[in-house]
Amino acid sequence: MDRSLFNNLVEIHQFCYSIGMAIGNLNLKGKAVCAPLAGISNRPFRVLAIRGGAAMTYTEMISSEAIIRRQKRTFGMMAFQPEEQPLAIQLFGANPEVMLEAARIVTEECHPDLLHVNFGCPAKKVVAKNGGAAVLKDLGLTREIIEAVVAGAGSTPVSIKMRTGWDDQSPVYLEVGRIAQEAGAMAVCLHARSRAGGYAGKADWSAIRKLKDAVGITVIGNGDVASGEDAARMIEMTGCDMVMIGRAAIGNPLIFAQVNQYLDNGTMIDPPSLEEKVCLVVDHAGMMVEEYGESRGVMMMRKHLGLYVRGFVGASEMRNRLVQTKTLDEIRAIFSEYIALQTTREDDDSNEQ
Ligand SMILES: Cc1cc2nc3c(=O)[nH]c(=O)nc-3n(C[C@H](O)[C@H](O)[C@H](O)COP(=O)(O)O)c2cc1C
Repeated sequence: MDRSLFNNLVEIHQFCYSIGMAIGNLNLKGKAVCAPLAGISNRPFRVLAIRGGAAMTYTEMISSEAIIRRQKRTFGMMAFQPEEQPLAIQLFGANPEVMLEAARIVTEECHPDLLHVNFGCPAKKVVAKNGGAAVLKDLGLTREIIEAVVAGAGSTPVSIKMRTGWDDQSPVYLEVGRIAQEAGAMAVCLHARSRAGGYAGKADWSAIRKLKDAVGITVIGNGDVASGEDAARMIEMTGCDMVMIGRAAIGNPLIFAQVNQYLDNGTMIDPPSLEEKVCLVVDHAGMMVEEYGESRGVMMMRKHLGLYVRGFVGASEMRNRLVQTKTLDEIRAIFSEYIALQTTREDDDSNEQ
């Protein structure tokens, strides 16, 4: 398999759109950013997102308490290379003093392009300690946390990400948007569902419209964008400045180039060929093994593999085999076999015609 196929592909696409956006002193190329995804947004995923056209990547959420305790694993999660930039480090926590100290440490020692605060996480272990979406229940605390992070971040811009509220009965996103602006945040991202809403139904994009009308800072819309058309519709309906894409990027890092080009000039990029897709997934698996070692890297890669083969002939059988792989060679072998089989099928089809 020719590794350069994927690199050629991304080089062509990365440079063919010209739209952009500024968040404070940070200038971004493109309008589609790659969402923070716990358990997914590690270095290989972020590198591929940037190569695939993302305007910015985020780390998965990082505990402010763990930062000030200087946990080694946490610092590993915040380490990054230029090929993952522009990059935001996402913090969560419920104690303004701890958040201030964590923001200071992260800014001075890790130098991210943006510091980002999570007010959206619904996970029990986070909200049980009053972090993530739980902060939305106390707007005084929300303000204190944003002010603390802005103070700790110095000249690094700060943004926040929130859900509409703790539940559908208590929407607070407009107040939180205004608070963020007053407290010195440069951007606000809204995942347009409440914490209680989980991932059910459709994200309520009308909330993003209301937020955009309520604040003057950059608004990033989030929830259910899976194509260039979705992104264009979200921007048209809500007036948001940028879109954030999460689930649709897993197994399809090229979505960012697809979205950015569509927003730029209304055209679609050709979908990658089978060979290009296979190069991409095998490359990704190789990067995971380099980063985490073979056993852990392949294990962690399993949750991506199933999504990469969406639309493949016999995808479910392939998934069954892929989730049992233990080595990079096994992954390579499954995909090589697949390409060989598809090529034979195509030859047979053309002989029959
Ligand atoms: C597996 C997974 C992990 C996530 N982890 C985070 C996280 O660490 N921080 C965060 O702010 N949001 C997190 N989210 C929420 C996403 O960033 C995003 O808001 C949500 O998936 C909606 O966007 P989408 O419809 O494009 O997926 C996570 C979502 C998923 C599915």
